[in-house]
Amino acid sequence: MDLQCFLCWKVVPLLLLLPGRFWCMKVHILNEQPVHVLPGSKLVLTARIEKDPWEEVSTITWAREPETGQDRAKVTLATCPAKTPNCSGGRPDVQMNLKQQETTLQINGYSIADSGEYSVTVIDHSGANTTGRCIVREYEAVHHVSISINMSHSTLVCHEAWGTEPSFSWLHERAAITQQVGRVSKDGNTLFVTMTPICGHFTCMVGNKLGYSSATYTAAPCESGGRGMTAAVVCLVLLVLVCGGVLAFLLWRRHRQNNRGERLYEHAGNTI
Ligand SMILES: *[C@@H]1O[C@H](CO)[C@@H](O)[C@H](O)[C@H]1NC(C)=O
Ligand SMILES: *[C@@H]1O[C@H](CO)[C@@H](O)[C@H](O)[C@H]1NC(C)=O
Ligand SMILES: *[C@@H]1O[C@H](CO)[C@@H](O)[C@H](O)[C@H]1NC(C)=O
Repeated sequence: MDLQCFLCWKVVPLLLLLPGRFWCMKVHILNEQPVHVLPGSKLVLTARIEKDPWEEVSTITWAREPETGQDRAKVTLATCPAKTPNCSGGRPDVQMNLKQQETTLQINGYSIADSGEYSVTVIDHSGANTTGRCIVREYEAVHHVSISINMSHSTLVCHEAWGTEPSFSWLHERAAITQQVGRVSKDGNTLFVTMTPICGHFTCMVGNKLGYSSATYTAAPCESGGRGMTAAVVCLVLLVLVCGGVLAFLLWRRHRQNNRGERLYEHAGNTI
């Protein structure tokens, strides 16, 4: 808690008879930052004004300035007295309103020119002011997807240039990654390959609200699983046949010996 706030909450109540001498009002924009807006859609920024009951808002101003660059000229979008709950700015597509302690700015049909650092400034009756800020950027499609391989660590890393909120997913031979193939990192852009040797096609797909883009890394072709499997099955069948044959032979021999023994015994009994 900084000194100003300390004064606000601990000292000011004792000085209620001298209102306006301490500036306690604060304003902050509630949107999660940076705000990304799809071109053509609606931008809505909401700010909350924190103030003590004896403080009165006089004017609210929403403005925008370029996020970077030397010529950071500020453009006022709307300046409204707190007494009018709805008011439109200079432009017909800009609207501002104030409901209790929340003020919103709405811009219809967002375009790249509307990107920048937005600020909301609240002025009280004594002319003191406080400002809240927030960065607004265009929501951009996924660009330039590529894959790099780190041989020493058996990892594939997927890169994406500047798309907004990219989400990564991996495929091996157009199928989802299984434990036999590897493991995907939590953020999704790295694939730790466990299969040896590394073979086949690895595809990284990157997507966001505006669509998908992908890149493929091609390793040496995989040994055809089918041929290996067939060979294994043939070997197994041969082994079973050989074992079966040997067993059958042994049983047959034992049976014959037993029969001969019995016959001899019978023969002996008859002669006695
Ligand atoms: C202000 O605008 C809101 C919608 O943004 C509307 O519901 C409300 O009736 C308007 N109030 C006045 C006084 O025009
Ligand atoms: C806000 O107050 C500062 C001084 O504290 C002043 O320099 C600035 O011009 C004021 N801004 C507005 C918009 O009134
Ligand atoms: C491979 O990955 C390891 C661990 O992330 C890293 O230290 C190393 O520099 C990487 N090698 C190359 C060639 O990028």
